[in-house]
Amino acid sequence: MHTFVATLLQKQSNNSTNMYFQGKKVWITGASSGIGEALCYELASQGAELILSARKGNELERVKANCPAGYKISLVPLDVSDFASIPAVAQSVLSQVGHIDILINNAGISQRSLAEETSLSVDQRIMDVNFMGSVAMTKALLPQFISRKQGHIVAVSSVVGKVGTPYRSAYSASKHAMQGFFEALRAELHSRNIDVTIISPGYVATQVSMNALKGDGQAYQQMNESTEQGLEASVFAKKMLRAISRRQEEAFIGKKEILAIYLRRFFPKLLYRILRNYRLK
Ligand SMILES: NC(=O)c1ccc[n+]([C@@H]2O[C@H](COP(=O)([O-])OP(=O)(O)OC[C@H]3O[C@@H](n4cnc5c(N)ncnc54)[C@H](OP(=O)(O)O)[C@@H]3O)[C@@H](O)[C@H]2O)c1
Repeated sequence: MHTFVATLLQKQSNNSTNMYFQGKKVWITGASSGIGEALCYELASQGAELILSARKGNELERVKANCPAGYKISLVPLDVSDFASIPAVAQSVLSQVGHIDILINNAGISQRSLAEETSLSVDQRIMDVNFMGSVAMTKALLPQFISRKQGHIVAVSSVVGKVGTPYRSAYSASKHAMQGFFEALRAELHSRNIDVTIISPGYVATQVSMNALKGDGQAYQQMNESTEQGLEASVFAKKMLRAISRRQEEAFIGKKEILAIYLRRFFPKLLYRILRNYRLK
């Protein structure tokens, strides 16, 4: 009996996720790899029309080719840190697809270096891509969300957006900045019927550590054990889409590392002591 009810509830929950994305036009940044790529496959299977962005056009082509034929998928290669180009790109997308229902600000780049060995240009680059890039994309679409009196803006932050972690000073700062911006925006947009969901992933098994920047701006190019052992991207994507479809304000999605957020809130001194001994792995 218990299993039957659990299955029924699971089906209902899956259906409500399906219903939410069915026919919606969803623009995903960082769609060429990892979490963004997994979101594409899951959203396509749930009937969304997709607009996929990242810098590498060939990787976007690969993702599109992996989606079942017949789905509406537009590729819009862009660099989110090229702020000046974003309003024109957004206008061109809007004139092609009509409107956007959901923007997922997922493009991001991590860091693996102590603050003392990180050049200011790397701090700037990480802030530009993660924080300013998300702000620029959001501002380019905000007028159409407001005039349509509906829409959903999603920000992919991190556990590190709640907890400053060694070797990730600029990355933590960029994700804390996202938390502040999108939390304020959520309150501002409430009366306009526009939702804002902030997602804080723990470790997810993607290329994030490979692509992370070292202090000199070179790619770290190592797969960290904690990333490798994180949630599978496809599992993560399902959980993330469920949180969005429930119009949650925020969601922490990961394994035991999520506890750090609660330690930070309720036992900060204990967390600070743990973080002093944190080592890269
Ligand atoms: N994996 C984790 O453990 C983890 C944990 C917490 C938060 N996150 C966050 O999750 C998001 C996705 O990361 P991931 O784990 O999927 O890593 P990933 O596999 O390295 O993917 C990063 C994506 O961002 C895109 N990107 C990077 N710089 C860009 C730029 N300037 N303009 C446009 N697109 C850009 C990359 O595509 P191109 O190279 O083609 O541009 C790629 O599609 C990031 O915001 C990351 O901070 C990940």
